[in-house]
Amino acid sequence: MAGWHPGSWRSKTALQQVEYPDPAALQAVLNELTVLPPLVTALEVDTLREQLAEAACGRRFLLQGGDCAERFEDCREDVIKNRLKVLLQMSVVLVYGLQMPVVRIGRFAGQYAKPRSRPAECRGGVTLPSYRGDSINGQAFTAEARTPDPRRLITAYRCSAIILNLVRALGEGGFADLHNVDYWNLDFAGHSSFYGEYRAIITRMRDALRFAETVSGQPVGGLRRVDFFTCHEALYLPYEEAMTRPSKYREGMYNLSTHFPWIGRRTLQLEGAHAEYMRGICNPVGMKVGPDLSPAELRGLVHHLNPNKTPGRLTLITRLGVNNIERMLPPIVDAVRATGHQVLWCCDPMHGNTERTKDGYKTRRFDNILGELALAFDIHASMGITLGGVHFELAGEDVTECIGGASGINEADLRRAYHTSVDPRLNASQSLEMALRIVSKYKQMQ
Ligand code: PEP
Ligand code: CO
Repeated sequence: MAGWHPGSWRSKTALQQVEYPDPAALQAVLNELTVLPPLVTALEVDTLREQLAEAACGRRFLLQGGDCAERFEDCREDVIKNRLKVLLQMSVVLVYGLQMPVVRIGRFAGQYAKPRSRPAECRGGVTLPSYRGDSINGQAFTAEARTPDPRRLITAYRCSAIILNLVRALGEGGFADLHNVDYWNLDFAGHSSFYGEYRAIITRMRDALRFAETVSGQPVGGLRRVDFFTCHEALYLPYEEAMTRPSKYREGMYNLSTHFPWIGRRTLQLEGAHAEYMRGICNPVGMKVGPDLSPAELRGLVHHLNPNKTPGRLTLITRLGVNNIERMLPPIVDAVRATGHQVLWCCDPMHGNTERTKDGYKTRRFDNILGELALAFDIHASMGITLGGVHFELAGEDVTECIGGASGINEADLRRAYHTSVDPRLNASQSLEMALRIVSKYKQMQ
């Protein structure tokens, strides 16, 4: 890759970076990270790329989901397990309804750095640096918490390793086994009106499984374990650079802090540092495509990030908003089609539908989220291409951050369990309901 090395982004303009008060302390941390073991392997990264290539052709479906911003305090067994349960419930519904294998990518084990619209926040006449995610600074509105601390990068690495360890153990060790679906029940989600729909799917699947195992006299293979891949926004580039390693068995350099890094809307510029960094790594990468990205720039980025047209390399995660998608998605699809590249199209119906209530809560409406998704399915189908995945911000907890859904969360409920540190997430019930609605939409279209 001409002129590229893990630090070549340093010659470009890098937006959303951090000024540390003590650059020598930052350098010491980066040196420490450079010799710490990788969190994922190049082999896994390659497997994911192959699976995403299949999703791009409509032979698999991508489910990407998790926190907007992970917090160190959520590195806890219950939080990790509950989020995994929701993703497992959703994926089983999707597998059954879409009749396709599902690729599960968690927004976890590294989603600790956040881009912000404003570098500083002002409250009651006091101005402090904005919160930029737990890997950078603290959320409390004090000068001490908001001062970037490089040791947080090490904590982010450690929490990622701990989370990944439990996720891998749960994925392998019986918890994710389709025979044990009852392990995935969430105490608080059983009352929702659509829960019966989920139970009916589980019962049908169990019956089919029992039948197959009775007839063949042996267990159906491949159901005992599931793969979870990880993703995060590759935002703070010195961290990503420190985690970029050569592979012993493959050619090229891999970001081994995560399987799937993505470039966020705010740092996606053709001439920018983030595109430069991503251009040289072998991971499959995502790009968040927002309303402000011109089709011409998108075309340039597609060539820039995937000059060899490697299958599975590029996922375009569109986040246009329910009011923009009909107008904006067709020219985007046309522009990419004109490049001759096959990309995986994924819909993020969260980030274009954020609003603020009169009480100041950032929220999203279930109906707008579902509305954008349904339109994405229709528009892609009418243009003869596959919508191969969905991207959600969700929690395994009974939070009240998004409005609507069968449980009827309204504006007044937001103050009850609003825990996110950045964007509002679907709670466990809303997430499962969303998976069921995706399946209904998909079936309607067949
Ligand atoms: C995010 O995914 O949390 C995010 C900031 O998204 P976007 O870059 O699409 O705004
Ligand atoms: Co977000």
